[in-house]
Amino acid sequence: MIGAGAASRMLVFLFLFFIRFSDSEIAAGVVASSSVGYDHRALLIDGARRILVSGSIHYPRSTPEMWRDLIQKSKDGGLDVIETYVFWNLHEPVRNQYDFEGRKDLVKFVKTVAEAGLYVHLRIGPYIGAEWNYGGFPVRLHFIPGIKFRTDNEPFKAEMQRFTAKIVDMMKQENLYASQGGPIILSQIENEYGNVDWAYGPAAKSYVSWAASMAVSLDTGVPWVMGQQVDAPDPVINTCNDYYCDQFAPNSKNKPKMWTENWTGWFLPFGGAVPYRPVEDIAYAVARFFQRGGTFQNYYVYHGGTNFGHSSGGPFIATSYDYDAPIDEYGFIRQPKWGHLRDLHKAIKLCEAALVATDPTSSSLGPNLEATVYKTAGACAAFLANRDNQYDATVTFNGKLYHLPAWSVSILSDCRNVVFNTAQINSQTSSTEMRHLNSYNQTSDDSLDSSEMPQSQWSYAIEPVGISKADAFTKTGLLEQINTTADASDYLWYSTSIEITGDEPFLLNGTQSNLLVKSLGHVLRVFVNGKLSASGMGNSYNASFSLQKLIMLAPGKNAIDLLSATVGLQDYGPFFDLWGAGVTGPVKLNGPNGTLDLSSKPWTYQIGLKGEDSRLYETSDDSSEWVSDSTLPTNQPLIWYKTKFAAPEGDGPIAINFTGMGKGEGWVNGQSIGRFWPTYQAPQNGCVTFCSYKGSFSSDKCLKNCGKPSQILYHVPRSFLRWGSNDLVLFEEVGGDPTKMSFAVREIGSLCAHVSELHPAPLDAFITTQKRGKSGPMLRLECPSANQLISKIKFASFGTPHGACGSYSHGKCNSSTALTVVQEACIGARSCSIRVSTEMFGDPCRGVTKSLAVEVACL
Ligand code: GAL
Repeated sequence: MIGAGAASRMLVFLFLFFIRFSDSEIAAGVVASSSVGYDHRALLIDGARRILVSGSIHYPRSTPEMWRDLIQKSKDGGLDVIETYVFWNLHEPVRNQYDFEGRKDLVKFVKTVAEAGLYVHLRIGPYIGAEWNYGGFPVRLHFIPGIKFRTDNEPFKAEMQRFTAKIVDMMKQENLYASQGGPIILSQIENEYGNVDWAYGPAAKSYVSWAASMAVSLDTGVPWVMGQQVDAPDPVINTCNDYYCDQFAPNSKNKPKMWTENWTGWFLPFGGAVPYRPVEDIAYAVARFFQRGGTFQNYYVYHGGTNFGHSSGGPFIATSYDYDAPIDEYGFIRQPKWGHLRDLHKAIKLCEAALVATDPTSSSLGPNLEATVYKTAGACAAFLANRDNQYDATVTFNGKLYHLPAWSVSILSDCRNVVFNTAQINSQTSSTEMRHLNSYNQTSDDSLDSSEMPQSQWSYAIEPVGISKADAFTKTGLLEQINTTADASDYLWYSTSIEITGDEPFLLNGTQSNLLVKSLGHVLRVFVNGKLSASGMGNSYNASFSLQKLIMLAPGKNAIDLLSATVGLQDYGPFFDLWGAGVTGPVKLNGPNGTLDLSSKPWTYQIGLKGEDSRLYETSDDSSEWVSDSTLPTNQPLIWYKTKFAAPEGDGPIAINFTGMGKGEGWVNGQSIGRFWPTYQAPQNGCVTFCSYKGSFSSDKCLKNCGKPSQILYHVPRSFLRWGSNDLVLFEEVGGDPTKMSFAVREIGSLCAHVSELHPAPLDAFITTQKRGKSGPMLRLECPSANQLISKIKFASFGTPHGACGSYSHGKCNSSTALTVVQEACIGARSCSIRVSTEMFGDPCRGVTKSLAVEVACL
């Protein structure tokens, strides 16, 4: 237990900590240590309060080859801190056998962040949730006698402490804590336990205090946080996770207001529509948080990435973990999200001196209108918020008039000039980045450079129906799946047979019977006499289901083979570890005159597939199991496919379009690219054609892709590919045609920007000229790579243009000089800036607020 004096001790403690280091210092190993602590306003680094902008990047959801670029893009986007969870099940699948190789190289990831000069927030958990298989717990923990997860239980606490200590020791040995000159300034123990602790009774309380003191005892030299844990014991800081955290207050006056998960979008389940969150709303939420005294804010996620292999949680979490994050699944910046948030971060940093110097003072400027001022002798910063979700407002503040768009915050870095408004986007956008390799986008096939897979070069191997492995075993009754497989495979066969003569009471017309199977989930394929006869599945809200189907039987012996499949183990909720899966029964045959209950018969069980055992996905040479016929069997269940392909040119990532395939898993050169399931479509309804950023956001407010496959494109990182020939292996569970698949690579499309006369001047112009208030709104465009030039103006209008990038159209009001002005400024240049004012374009419609919309092509 931590004593009551801990909080006050916390105020004076000086954790040894570091100053921000340069690459050469790190290389030379001469990084100075320094202190980190906190007070009621902020984290203190070297005794100084800091405003910190953080973003989550989960190292195993990308590749080490991608890390440096992702981190650099985060730094360029204005982040100070990279947050990651630690993924226990990856690191210690077998007790005491640790794996930190490749995508699991945590130390390398942390060092890469340090090399970029950024800090690290290490969320050890070791329960993490994160839409990750079993919430990050190794499934083997479930089999420890007497264990109860996430409560005051000795076997559980022993394991949790052992792993947490292991990670802390590793970090210490590499000098990665701030106190040692490393980048880690913060750590998390547990994860959102406060959301579920009610279910664990009084033991929850003692578990929380144990977890806190266990963590603190590891002596990392940096503060610990608990997310969503109202009763986090001192000195552990309780933090907020939500779409908005401006109303949050920590549980002690001595702790700073910290936001550890600001969800930039939401995760995608197979069978779901694709969620997105408008950047104006994210910026609004962040600005409100800083307005109301927050000092640490983390985007969950800044880069989401990919759930390779069987890493996705569930059930039913898709392979793409794109999340509509500022950096997309493939590692490309997503505009205007990334750019608008970068501008926001610059604006907030302009205010940093004032923000950290004092507490805020707020006043009302009218209904839903709030002004907040941070003022000291030397600095002044103000935030003007309009919380109305419909109406713009004009307010008077310090004797000056300000236009406040609905649902927006204006940031005044000197208490006079608006340097940023959350609803006014200056940043450029691009028609390609938004559409191309978004793994869910179906409509952009014209802009994808896709090439068909070669038809003739497929070979195949049949996966047997039912029992085919020597380690199958027979038990009476139906077994729960996870207890049986220990998640060694997604698949479990339940196999039995029945003899019929034709006059059994459970038969209809002598050969048919109504099969009923109840399953805890997630997916079931029923084979009768070797033939796929029925399928059943749950969904991401409810994995359990019951299947009823009329099946055909034949006189004599009938083989009944049930293939139960999991699609990511439950990762969230009270006692999520015990939810279970598989055919727990009953299994019955119903007829007009009677029922045959098969539930307590002997069943033969096989864990996993034959092809998994013989590692068909690894075969790079043609083993005898593979057949190359002139006709490729298609649309049949339980079949492995293999082809060779030359990697698409370039050094960027590729995607495989899985059109034509059913459900299964794919491997490129032996590395799993995850589960595929292009036939699982999003519901027809629930999507919006236009989603307003105004008003409170929730995860189902802005959905797209209704009625289409939840995920059709699957990421293949460039590092999975090699020169020359590459192997693609697929396991198809239900039936598909691999010759319909294609590759997709990203194409650079148009660049666009749309800026109005009311927008604030670009921040850089503001900072460099310091002509406070004098530089007006400006439209800026820059081709993505240094060797590109603007080659064509596809659209230019000053007046009242509307539409989105790629589909702008002229409004009623339109200056005749727009195209010429833009051509002169931009053609032949990599970047151009144009003032958005009537001085440049004349005034085509007096008294109307005008804007400039431009779309260009880069070559
Ligand atoms: C939070 C959790 C994260 C992630 C997120 C949703 O509750 O802490 O790990 O699951 O929700 O993406």
